[in-house]
Amino acid sequence: MRAFLGIGLPAGVRDAIASAVATVRGLRAPISWVATENLHITLKFLGELKPERVRIVEEALRVVAAGIPPFSLTAEGGGAFPGTRNPRVLWVAFPEPLELVRQLQQNMENALSGTGFPREDRPFHPHITVGRIRGPLPPAWGDRFVKALSGRRFGVVPVSSFTLYESRPGREGVVYTSRCEFRLEDPGTRKTGEEKGS
Ligand code: 2AM
Repeated sequence: MRAFLGIGLPAGVRDAIASAVATVRGLRAPISWVATENLHITLKFLGELKPERVRIVEEALRVVAAGIPPFSLTAEGGGAFPGTRNPRVLWVAFPEPLELVRQLQQNMENALSGTGFPREDRPFHPHITVGRIRGPLPPAWGDRFVKALSGRRFGVVPVSSFTLYESRPGREGVVYTSRCEFRLEDPGTRKTGEEKGS
């Protein structure tokens, strides 16, 4: 299956992003906009994950999840990769502090590279992709997008787990299905086997 690891968003955050994006998507431009139900944070793109490797990957990810306490992120404002002058991807941003999500992603990279997945060579920049540019954009379009989202808060994303998603092409666009959920655990408060019984 084609797979990736990510963080799902509360419906309220997805809806708030969709209504902000609705104000700019009316302006016709060659952009494919992400469906509201598909909005997510990608932690690691896995690509093809062979069925015989799923177990070992899941085991490695369980260890990762057991080492990071639950945290939350605030979705606010927007940006463009690689920049607003030549945008390829439009996204919603997360202001600092981002230590725990960075630590989570780093531990994930380390664990997965041990199972044979190549490390991402680009620095991790947590974001929610909202649109992908498919053709030449009118000048200043990137700036216009970022200005339209600037200072807008879309809400808090409580992160108590991350998800292994399967991505499949559907008749009306790509469909993401959760295949496994990994609960984060505060390593400082984890109970030992003995304590659990008491
Ligand atoms: P994005 O959030 O930065 O857009 C599911 O397809 C997710 O995996 C996408 O949202 C995208 O992350 C990421 N993704 C898709 N194809 C990729 C690729 N070839 N390399 C890296 N990440 C990819």
